[in-house]
Amino acid sequence: MNKLAIIGGSGLTQLEGLEIIDQISPTTPWGKPSAAITVGKFNDIEILFLPRHGDPHTIPPHKINYRANIQALKDSGVNEIIAVNAVGGITEKMTPCRIVVPNQLIDYTHSRADTFHEEDLEKVVHIDFTEPYSETLRDELIMAAESVDSIDICKIAIYAVTQGPRLETTAEIRRLEKDGCDIVGMTSMPEASLARELEMEYACCSLVVNWAAGKTDEIITMEVIENNLKEGMGNVMSLLTAMLHNRR
Ligand code: HPA
Repeated sequence: MNKLAIIGGSGLTQLEGLEIIDQISPTTPWGKPSAAITVGKFNDIEILFLPRHGDPHTIPPHKINYRANIQALKDSGVNEIIAVNAVGGITEKMTPCRIVVPNQLIDYTHSRADTFHEEDLEKVVHIDFTEPYSETLRDELIMAAESVDSIDICKIAIYAVTQGPRLETTAEIRRLEKDGCDIVGMTSMPEASLARELEMEYACCSLVVNWAAGKTDEIITMEVIENNLKEGMGNVMSLLTAMLHNRR
């Protein structure tokens, strides 16, 4: 049987409407996850919820213990993850408050602990990562979006994962655009590849919260980001609700 977890990002530290059954604080060989994992019922379906940046939101993207987070979910029986994250919009259609379900990524991060397969190995492991996101979960999100009038998601996009915590320069965004990237965020790697290493389905539900650097004349302020998060998160919740409704 499938067991779904939602990893919450900026603006999603708690899952409204989640009927809490339990809170668990597992430890893993990699350390502790970002926060206690909430086990609850959402729309009558049991799910787990983990806030990626801690609760309260204090862990920056490059300091997240991604291995502990993914291992803790795996050890809790999870085999499917929807990762919610805030991103900047690079290409024309990636307007603020739009929800994007990326189908590809490019990893520009560095110095992150990004594999379970590095010590005490019996043999070297190379996972297949041709398609980094789960088509099954992506399809579910896309179908759910089609049933909610107010939501017009973008189904095809390349997610550039940057190191952060600073935002990018104009030249960096130009380079990402040349590379073919549509959105830019800081958290989908190594989350996606660690989930793949543990054979878990993983897809992103990304909310655009600002135009990427140099895409407008204005500088990017936390105020702009927070306002778009507030405005867009309602649709993210509606999308997740619709997705779970379709599973009943
Ligand atoms: N760049 C990188 N990460 C982000 C951005 C951005 O513009 N907005 C939200 N997360």
